[in-house]
Amino acid sequence: MYPRLYVARELLAEDGAIFISIDDNEIGQLKLMCDEVFGESNAIANIIWEKKFSPQNDDSSISTTHDYILAYSKSKVAWKPNLLPRGESNLTKFKNPDNDHRGLWTSGDLTSKTKAANHSYVITSPTGKKHTPPKGRQWAPSETTFKRWLEEGRIWFGKDGNNVPRVKQFLSEIQGGLIPMTVWRQEDVGHNQSATQELKRLFNGESTFETPKPVSLIKQILQIGSNKNSIVLDFFAGSGTTAASTLELNADDGGNRQFITIQIPEATSEKSDVYKAGFEDVFELTKERIIRAANFLREGEKEYQGDLGFKIFETVEDFRVEENDKELTLSNLTMFDDVLLTEEQYQTLLITWALYDGSELTTPIHDIDLDGYTAHLCDRRLYMIAPDFSSNALKALLHKLDDTDDKDFDPNKIVYYANSFDSVKQMELNEALKSYANKKSIEIDVVVRN
Ligand SMILES: C[S@@+](CC[C@H](N)C(=O)[O-])C[C@H]1O[C@@H](n2cnc3c(N)ncnc32)[C@H](O)[C@@H]1O
Repeated sequence: MYPRLYVARELLAEDGAIFISIDDNEIGQLKLMCDEVFGESNAIANIIWEKKFSPQNDDSSISTTHDYILAYSKSKVAWKPNLLPRGESNLTKFKNPDNDHRGLWTSGDLTSKTKAANHSYVITSPTGKKHTPPKGRQWAPSETTFKRWLEEGRIWFGKDGNNVPRVKQFLSEIQGGLIPMTVWRQEDVGHNQSATQELKRLFNGESTFETPKPVSLIKQILQIGSNKNSIVLDFFAGSGTTAASTLELNADDGGNRQFITIQIPEATSEKSDVYKAGFEDVFELTKERIIRAANFLREGEKEYQGDLGFKIFETVEDFRVEENDKELTLSNLTMFDDVLLTEEQYQTLLITWALYDGSELTTPIHDIDLDGYTAHLCDRRLYMIAPDFSSNALKALLHKLDDTDDKDFDPNKIVYYANSFDSVKQMELNEALKSYANKKSIEIDVVVRN
């Protein structure tokens, strides 16, 4: 885990945070490791998640009904947690028994431990009863402030006007949410069984994964630790709850969070639910879950316009082999020395170059037709990888460059694959582009790559 945590820290934004779910057996080791990698001073909290609501009957010891979620920031100074939305249960304590025009309110303690002058005085209730602060405490407001609050109708002596005074706290005036706490109850964020049920609902009642997390649990983490434009990374995706939760939270609050989830194609055991549901490796389940979670939102929230798509990338070994002269060439040359790229190698090369040149995985790559030859435009770079580049394709390229109506086609760099262009074609292409650029007084960078 150490190298993974180290890389995770490197990937965190300056104001970012990491939340790691871990069970009782492993918390000790993980905490020590996180203190070392993230720094003790960046520890945010050890959250307790109530994952079960009843004891395991066959447990011979004390039955564990919680997991931990360790939270660390990259920098405690930069990290600003969000408040949590008030749930229904929290709102019910706000009432309006005296029809106050300021709306719903709840009453709060008027005393505090403060030791200051002018905070110990006698308050007379509307019925004439005299009140002094309890022993060891004072009134929270000074006498002057108290008088102002009384005039403004902010002091509550109970329905009969005889009780110990309390201060009215209006829903409209208090901060917009709840400060997150360290104990997360199953009634607020779900439990193991509710997570299994959620997943079953997406898979027509079939059990697919043994240890999913509830969407409401991950959403709570996202509500606290992300903003509407965050990138959310989960490198142990499992059933894909993090991706599903990100999509759902975006649909709830109009956010534009993006997710990156990683899952190895871990083979599933024949006895497992996931295997029985038809998934021979965990990655296939992760993918299907995200597709279904997105479809669920598409169908359930017809007017929702947000992005519910995703792309899949796989890390592969570099298929090019390094030879003595340090040139990278293909290992699968044919007997005629033609270079054959498989479709997968072709796509790999294209994506690898686009990233290398500064684009992102999400940057669109457009196919460009040059009289039957397909090139690819990404940002302002044109990639040419296929071997069938002809004189007609070159003519079409020059024509397209010249076409001022075609505003979307304005490359400033042309990158082509050396193995697909023999020396004659290379010379022809280089010469033609150089003279075109000279004539037009523009700069087009031509790069040949192996
Ligand atoms: C407990 S599951 C995550 C569950 C997930 N939060 C959910 O809601 O479904 C952990 C996942 O991490 C993956 N994993 C565990 N150890 C790993 C490792 N050393 N390298 C890569 N992936 C690993 C496993 O394949 C598994 O799918």
